[in-house]
Amino acid sequence: MKRRHFLVTTLLSSGLIIIDQLSTQAASIPDFSNSPFTLGVASGDPQSDRVIIWTRLAPFPLEGGGMPNIRVPVQWKVAKDAKMSEIVGQGTVIATPELGHSVHVDVTQLEANHVYWYQFQVGNYKSAIARTKTLPNPNASVDKVQFAFASCQDWQNGYYVAHKHLADEDLDFVVFLGDYIYERSRDNNAVRQHQGEDCLTLEDYRNRYAQYKSDPNLQASHHRFPWIMTWDDHEVDNNYANLTAEDDQTIEQFKKRRKAAYQAYYEHTPIRVSFQPREDITLYRSFDLGNLGKLMVLDTRQYRSDQPCGDGAKPRCQEAMSETMTLLGTAQEQWLQSQLSDSSASWNIIAQQIMMAQYNLDPRPQQGLFNMDQWDGYVQSRRRLLNFLDDNKISNPVVITGDIHSSWVNNLKLDFDDPRSPTVATEFVATSISSEFPQQYVAAVNLARIANPHVKFFEGTKHGYVRSTLTSESLKSDYRVVSSILDPDASIETLQSFVVKNGQPGV
Ligand SMILES: [Fe+2]
Repeated sequence: MKRRHFLVTTLLSSGLIIIDQLSTQAASIPDFSNSPFTLGVASGDPQSDRVIIWTRLAPFPLEGGGMPNIRVPVQWKVAKDAKMSEIVGQGTVIATPELGHSVHVDVTQLEANHVYWYQFQVGNYKSAIARTKTLPNPNASVDKVQFAFASCQDWQNGYYVAHKHLADEDLDFVVFLGDYIYERSRDNNAVRQHQGEDCLTLEDYRNRYAQYKSDPNLQASHHRFPWIMTWDDHEVDNNYANLTAEDDQTIEQFKKRRKAAYQAYYEHTPIRVSFQPREDITLYRSFDLGNLGKLMVLDTRQYRSDQPCGDGAKPRCQEAMSETMTLLGTAQEQWLQSQLSDSSASWNIIAQQIMMAQYNLDPRPQQGLFNMDQWDGYVQSRRRLLNFLDDNKISNPVVITGDIHSSWVNNLKLDFDDPRSPTVATEFVATSISSEFPQQYVAAVNLARIANPHVKFFEGTKHGYVRSTLTSESLKSDYRVVSSILDPDASIETLQSFVVKNGQPGV
């Protein structure tokens, strides 16, 4: 008999029972002694007609979630208003123990460029009501797009006051560029401390996400805007490269660890990927912002060659210059080139993790000291991309970057060693939400500014995010910084703003 995938819903005295005929496993609602919505809700990966809404049932978030080992029906609804009276979509989705009782609903048939509200319910427990927004139609004429980008929220280094202020902005979406969690163990001197040791297993990573996502400011930021997310290294392991761990784990050990970390990432983020528990996830993807912009989101961790020259800040050895070194992997590099070639948008924004501009940390003439974890360790990958942008006259390329816990504005040159070389793109590097940039690094960068005239701005002590406003005339980036990450009531201000004009790469 041919199986058909449909749901039979029966109301029994114990509550809602749903039978999924594909798996023939029943789903039921447990007796909760605590709200299952401790991690809040989130939305993400908006398109013009759809958006992902997410939650995870976790009544006891730091103890593996605290759910029984059963399948649980979760009701969801989407409305046009914050009171949830004008419903435009609703349904039931099954939360399974295999995915940590996380759910992703791809809500379709929505109107373009439109604000919606959504909510989940299990039994008598209702989640917060949260707001989201679809993108404009791909070919629509759009006057303005506003977004913020952020990265690096080390729980132990400070409070998420930046998220509190981010939630008050007027934005279409948030781009998060990685280091959503940090995998390392507890620092007893930290202002607030990790629970648990170094993350190695699925349960470790789940508990770490649960701890981070318990933060009300982080939840507020998710509850206000759809997020477009990618990861960097700390979602798995500091400075990992493809299947090479930072420390002495074997490839086989690290394969298991990375698989667990990737699954936990999926379980805690509103990303639209086809997910099966396995060793890889295709995370690179693109978003159309009407005729105004195209956003291409990269993954510079999963496919890269191991950092050359022993990683860290090093003089460039031959390996760093080698054509065989790759940062994106062949498939992603070809995908990016075709996305750029096919784009008819005014602005082409590449959202990625690590700083693309060259930065020579040794100011002495004819000397060189470069961070091998950044694009500086993958010189030919960068040369190919910047040459591609120039050769194909890609319209207004802009790179947005995280990772380095400090604020930068860089003009991306065809030849960074020649100040007269053309600028082909502009890079905005956001500082961290909370992660530290050590004082000695600030001093080292400042000392070397003279050897890097394409770097137009650097600030290494403040935390926050960048708010960008895109119009047909310009892209304006405001560096929004908080007065302190140690004060939960800290204020926010714009440190400085930078403008790229249409047709004129560089700030
Ligand atoms: Fe970071």
